[in-house]
Amino acid sequence: MIIITAPPERLTGEVTVPGDKSITHRAIMLGALARGVTEIRGFLGAEDCWSTVECLRALGVRVTLKGRRLFVEGKNKKLIKPAKELDAGNSGTTARLLLGILAGQDFQATLTGDLSLQKRPMKRVIEPLQQMGARFEGDAETLPVTITGGDLEPVNYQSPRASAQVKSAVLLAGLFADGTTVVEEPYRSRDHTELMLSRFGARIEVDGSRASVQGGTVLRSGQVRVPGDISAAAFLMVAAAIIPGSELLIKNVGINPTRSGIIDVLLEMGAAVELKEEKSWGKEPVADIMVKGNSGLKGVKISGEIIPRLIDEIPALAVAALVAEGETVISDASELRVKESDRISALAGELRKLGADLEENEDGMIIRGGPELKGADLDSCGDHRIAMALAVAGLVAQGETAVWGAEVINISFPGFMQSLRSLIMK
Ligand code: S3P
Repeated sequence: MIIITAPPERLTGEVTVPGDKSITHRAIMLGALARGVTEIRGFLGAEDCWSTVECLRALGVRVTLKGRRLFVEGKNKKLIKPAKELDAGNSGTTARLLLGILAGQDFQATLTGDLSLQKRPMKRVIEPLQQMGARFEGDAETLPVTITGGDLEPVNYQSPRASAQVKSAVLLAGLFADGTTVVEEPYRSRDHTELMLSRFGARIEVDGSRASVQGGTVLRSGQVRVPGDISAAAFLMVAAAIIPGSELLIKNVGINPTRSGIIDVLLEMGAAVELKEEKSWGKEPVADIMVKGNSGLKGVKISGEIIPRLIDEIPALAVAALVAEGETVISDASELRVKESDRISALAGELRKLGADLEENEDGMIIRGGPELKGADLDSCGDHRIAMALAVAGLVAQGETAVWGAEVINISFPGFMQSLRSLIMK
């Protein structure tokens, strides 16, 4: 449980955030499939990424931690049959991307996860992988799932949704198919898999929201430097943006355009956000993000093509909307209902306890900013991003806010509360 005694005068200072979760998962997985040793710097040492490490260890991959670097000894795409069930824990990315890799292995394996992950839809990856020739036991729609891989055919998959996890599962399976595997999505989702595949020497082509990969190439190991996670930075950015007088610099954050929708929305709301020291780490764009707080934020509409570019940042943006003038309308975001929790109902239920004025819709919510918020007892709903959003909301509520079940923050942002505390001027 964490307690926020609010409101602080302002947030000031300079911080770094932990490594990007999506990129860390991919670096570990591609490192495992490459020939030779991959060294990963700046990786996210949080529960979700350890789930990926443990699954790969169970598949015969040696992963060692030396100081702050992770070394992955690649198996040149040939993993070994695990002696026990693979456990993806709370991590949807581990589960879905790993199914893509298992589809290419000629053995049977069973994958499971925690109670939250066991509720999340897996059909979306199972279907294309079946089309490629992977076999699944029974009528699998959710974990646990038993898969037998090997002998894959390339596919041309028209994905009904913009999902990087689906796209990545198909592209990873495509590495094992004889020929060109194509995935096309309605809008472009995050492209870390494509960028990293290209970095590892795979033959990958991208044309708008269509990506294709050639099977059969050997992946080259190397060094990966993981940028700070914009999805973690999001909570600190919003905290600074909503507390007038704040001045926050977050160093070395990944600003890949398929992930940076939060910057666009905060700017549109009237927040002062500036990028400094722009550079590239490998193929990923990186910058320092400066955020200054002001009291003049305005409500906005968030829908359509931008949704995949900020889907994980909606809990943080919902908090910004609480203090903005007018309505913030979030729609086309029904995917929020199948994340680590049903994030629409979790946000609506918990933020209302603080006195927020909002309406829940099937695919989003309408938040009317302005009402004075009062501290309350809140529940993380077992979801790391809900816990962090509620902690930030607590900063602008009068009195004390408690967030129960906040240990889940360790899923993606160990040290979140320390970072927040270090920025609060007493
Ligand atoms: C992720 C993709 C997104 C995102 C998730 C991480 C990834 O999920 O919400 O937190 O690393 O590929 P979907 O693919 O379900 O949209």
